[in-house]
Amino acid sequence: MAAPRPPIIPLSHSLTEVINGLLDPWIFILTSLSYLPTTILPLLRAGSFRTLLSWPRFQPLWFANFWSVAGPQSRNTAEPRVIPLLQGRVRSGVPVSADDAPSPGVGGVVLEVGPGSGMWVSLFSDEQKLPITHIYGIEPNASVHPPLRAAIAAAGLSEVYEIVPLGIQDLTTSGRVAEGSVDCIVSVFCLCSIPDPAQNIAALYRCLKPGGRWYVYEHVRVFPEQGWGMALYQAFVNLIWPHCIGGCELRRDTEKTLREAGPWSLVNLSQPPQEPWFHSLPHIYGILTK
Ligand SMILES: C[S@@+](CC[C@H](N)C(=O)[O-])C[C@H]1O[C@@H](n2cnc3c(N)ncnc32)[C@H](O)[C@@H]1O
Repeated sequence: MAAPRPPIIPLSHSLTEVINGLLDPWIFILTSLSYLPTTILPLLRAGSFRTLLSWPRFQPLWFANFWSVAGPQSRNTAEPRVIPLLQGRVRSGVPVSADDAPSPGVGGVVLEVGPGSGMWVSLFSDEQKLPITHIYGIEPNASVHPPLRAAIAAAGLSEVYEIVPLGIQDLTTSGRVAEGSVDCIVSVFCLCSIPDPAQNIAALYRCLKPGGRWYVYEHVRVFPEQGWGMALYQAFVNLIWPHCIGGCELRRDTEKTLREAGPWSLVNLSQPPQEPWFHSLPHIYGILTK
């Protein structure tokens, strides 16, 4: 059964806040579009027409250029949630003190889904005192591997962090990560971009050991409490968004997919209660324990 959600409090926001909130995804889309010339021109100069004329080759390159700037910005806003998440200090969508932490922090064999350019890699470093023995970073976009490698080296994790250059849909058949071998999965802003979420999230679930934990911070489809108007608005934005933001989908019910991936002994997953009703990218946040 889904955990009760804290009410989304209406009427406590100014009209300007509402308009800015609704415009947010369009600003993101426009920012991404502004990276088109700097993606296309070098390809034209190099005569790389194979990449220019192939959407599956061009889109990841465009996204990598865009994310090199948008990623650090989104890290700044997400960090106050992601740091406590990886330390196990989240309850009902709210960071809590270490004494009140409902779960242990990330540790053992860790699988990070879609690390991108390595925005969160420093949080796995020795400085954070997490008992990590090995990390698999499952990242199919080769354009982000150089900055990801640099982030791994800067965090002193070259011996521990292994980049797996595959999409998660190819993970189990590759034999790189065995079923029941992973202690913790970390997914931050990536389950929106993977293909066939039901099948691939279930495959990741099988990689977890019994008692293994999945640390989640993902944006999802608008919640029923936000009203049909927001649902319609998100559906409209989503006509354009995935094409401009690296295949990211706004309308996934990732909480349901995670819950249905297999039996969990504990689901501590909620929307952060501070998120307003006009948020086009509402989140789910927390930890599931197998
Ligand atoms: C929005 S980015 C987020 C990157 C990073 N987690 C962050 O927070 O900065 C989504 C990431 O998911 C990756 N991704 C896309 N398809 C994937 C797949 N099939 N398997 C694993 N990762 C995938 C993308 O390459 C991209 O790096």
